[in-house]
Amino acid sequence: MEKIMIGLASDHAGYPLKEQVKEWLSAKGYAFTDFGTNSTDSCDYPEFAHALGNAIEQGECKMGIAICGTGNGINMSLNHHAGIRGALCWQPEIAELARQHNDANVLVMPGRFIDEATAKKCVDTFLDTAFEGGRHQRRIDAIPVK
Ligand code: RB5
Repeated sequence: MEKIMIGLASDHAGYPLKEQVKEWLSAKGYAFTDFGTNSTDSCDYPEFAHALGNAIEQGECKMGIAICGTGNGINMSLNHHAGIRGALCWQPEIAELARQHNDANVLVMPGRFIDEATAKKCVDTFLDTAFEGGRHQRRIDAIPVK
């Protein structure tokens, strides 16, 4: 896949893994923008989720990686954005299906429940897998509440 601009977001619980993901992305030659947080000091995940969500909706970033303790809070916040399809992934196979079937544009991971090696595999798989379209496009089109 082309080397796209990737946005990153986490809360304090996701911060350590976010820093590891940044090193991984740098080593692989990806450009990224980090929307915070910037330490393990306690903070509120919606602030960083919405900064990332806005950046993707405005075209500043093509895809995102978001991390909180369980992944749930930051994913819930992201998925309130009409232009975001955040997918909570803890195995590479789920990250692959999130791209193939859901055309997810944010990989969300549970920082407190995933090891670094598995997270890196999720990142690689997510960024290297294409959407399959077809019947999955019809289902994605039906997600927004009318
Ligand atoms: C922070 O303690 C934790 O609640 C948060 O990272 C996340 O897991 C919430 O969904």
